Amino acid sequence: MARPSNRSGATRLSNQTILHELIPQVGSALDRHLATTSEWMPHDYVPYEEGRNFVKEPWQPADSQLPDVAQTALEVNLLTEDNLPYYHLSLWRTFGDEDAWGEWVRRWTAEEGRHAIVIRDFLTVTRGVDPTLLERGRMDQAQRGWYPEFAQQGPLDGVVFTTIQELATRISHRNTGAITDDEAAEKLCSRVATDENLHYVFYRDMAINAIDLDPDAMVEAMHRQITSFAMPGAGIPGFRDKAKAMAQAGIYNLRIHHDQVLRPILDKHWRLADLQGLSDHAKHLRDEIYAYVARLDRVASKLGEPLGPVRGDISSDPPGHA
Ligand SMILES: [Fe+2]
Ligand SMILES: [Fe+2]
Repeated sequence: MARPSNRSGATRLSNQTILHELIPQVGSALDRHLATTSEWMPHDYVPYEEGRNFVKEPWQPADSQLPDVAQTALEVNLLTEDNLPYYHLSLWRTFGDEDAWGEWVRRWTAEEGRHAIVIRDFLTVTRGVDPTLLERGRMDQAQRGWYPEFAQQGPLDGVVFTTIQELATRISHRNTGAITDDEAAEKLCSRVATDENLHYVFYRDMAINAIDLDPDAMVEAMHRQITSFAMPGAGIPGFRDKAKAMAQAGIYNLRIHHDQVLRPILDKHWRLADLQGLSDHAKHLRDEIYAYVARLDRVASKLGEPLGPVRGDISSDPPGHA
């Protein structure tokens, strides 16, 4: 059957057609994912021998051996993972619960669940962050619920947003681990980052397939998602100060977002500048995307935010890398 094409700008594919057309690629990307990932146990990453009873010995700030900014980053990373019910809802609504898409969404959800488990268990056992603060933060996050906008915008916005977010999260976890000065914390953060890399590769490649299917619509989705992108967590109490501390420590900031996330994804993987056959409107949006990215670069330079411990372009690492 001939694949309906939007390259001429004559036909706009429906979300349902896009999802249907991508099923074979989702199936093979899921098979690759399952063949690449390895089972891991949160309990293997937690030094339980350090555990003490909180009723007898309530947590005090002096208990934590972690640098302040590492405490902040681990707290923010954990709260971001605690938002899982809402990511799940948005993916379920966007990609559906049937065929290979549904299988992917369920598998992804199961893997993401481990991230909060391992970080929370580690922080509780090692007394790295006030456990009452963490539990109140989780309650607040889960009751408020951060629901990504792409769920109202369709599958193309879904693959664009998740590609960016998974790579951003991978880098943030890796950088966090590196600044903890704690071997066990670093190992744990690297393990989580490996999962995020696998997720990133899945969505990145799905976006490439979607570009092939409907380049005009994908450029529109890129424009919407890139020009409005914000890391989840904006609703966390005190987020501005926390994000500022993390930016200054090189855990995640505009410099990283520009150099290590947007540029490599757009230039190397999605080859936005080289896309052929775009409508005039899509070409205009592409220009706006590049203007926006250039502005980000200028602001990042003005702010002087540093790259973090993770250096260089890691967007092409094989899926099994941290
Ligand atoms: Fe995660
Ligand atoms: Fe992930």
